[in-house]
Amino acid sequence: MGKSYPKVSEEYQKAVEKCKRKLRGLIAEKHCAPIILRLAWQSAGTFDVKTKTGGPFGTIRHPAELGHVANNGLDIAVRLLEPIKEQFPILSYADFYQLAGVVAVEVTGGPEIPFHPGRPTLESVLTQDKQELPPEGRLPNATKGSDHLRDVFGHMGLSDKDIVALSGGHTLGRCHKDRSGFEGPWTTNPLIFDNSYFKELLSGEKEGLIQLPSDKALLEDPIFRPLVEKYVADEDAFFADYAEAHLKLSELGYDNDRSFRTPTPFLAISHEFRRRLSLAIAEIEIYSIAIEARERVADQLGLVPESQRVAVVEELQLLAGKRI
Ligand code: HEM
Repeated sequence: MGKSYPKVSEEYQKAVEKCKRKLRGLIAEKHCAPIILRLAWQSAGTFDVKTKTGGPFGTIRHPAELGHVANNGLDIAVRLLEPIKEQFPILSYADFYQLAGVVAVEVTGGPEIPFHPGRPTLESVLTQDKQELPPEGRLPNATKGSDHLRDVFGHMGLSDKDIVALSGGHTLGRCHKDRSGFEGPWTTNPLIFDNSYFKELLSGEKEGLIQLPSDKALLEDPIFRPLVEKYVADEDAFFADYAEAHLKLSELGYDNDRSFRTPTPFLAISHEFRRRLSLAIAEIEIYSIAIEARERVADQLGLVPESQRVAVVEELQLLAGKRI
């Protein structure tokens, strides 16, 4: 079943289209597609499927998150994009950064990736509530192998195929000694999005080009390697799988239900919370899937200030007749 997306206003949709054109211009002029793609991916890649925290919600521009070691250098991308964002105050940063990622792939010759606007920016994060920032350490470490990649991407809810296809993002750009400790591009045409990352990977190390340990892990793993070989032989297959995986990445934790996740004061949501609680309990009865229901309820609890949660859980248990 497909995801359902929030409906944005006509004005918002128009701003998306216009902003897309401005982004195309900026990225072409500044040759900055690689770092913009890296910004979009590392903003989304903090999503944790179990706790439903992190993800593409614009938090990466918060100095605390931008300061994570894995994000070294991404302040440049944030700064580059700012003059465009200022022209579109209606857009959420969350949408804006993901739109920029999609445009970066498109203008360098990569596949078209569908874009569904409506992600909220967690504005509270940008003011006082640092609790909502993803903790450091959720992004992959380039010195590690396939177990680590599966672990990290598994936490995002992504598959083996997604890992290999998305690694093809390294067809763009390069490593910078002062940002990651590594140096050099993966391909001889780092401003063109094609399947040359996989071709270079499979053909072995070459002077002047880099292969990170996490890139080489794709060759050593019995499930990853056949996908690398497939993408070398068939660029269309790579583009199709990449577009699918990038779309997933750009929408981690985002759908109609999560289009406005800004925390609401407890009193103001008390009736709404009650309504949602009853729905959650009804679900337990209908589906008898206690675990899933418990997760949903835990999710709702995220809306309630910490100090009130115990009281709410007690109320919940009372209501549920101790079924959960
Ligand atoms: C699989 C795990 C991954 C690891 C361990 C990894 C690691 C790295 C490292 C170490 C750099 C160099 C940063 C620098 O020195 O400037 C880099 C750059 C880059 N990464 Fe990844 N990455 C991964 C996945 C991805 C994914 C999924 C994408 C996009 C779909 C991506 C896109 C990029 C791009 C475009 C650059 C070049 C940035 C530039 O030229 O400024 N990476 N990555």
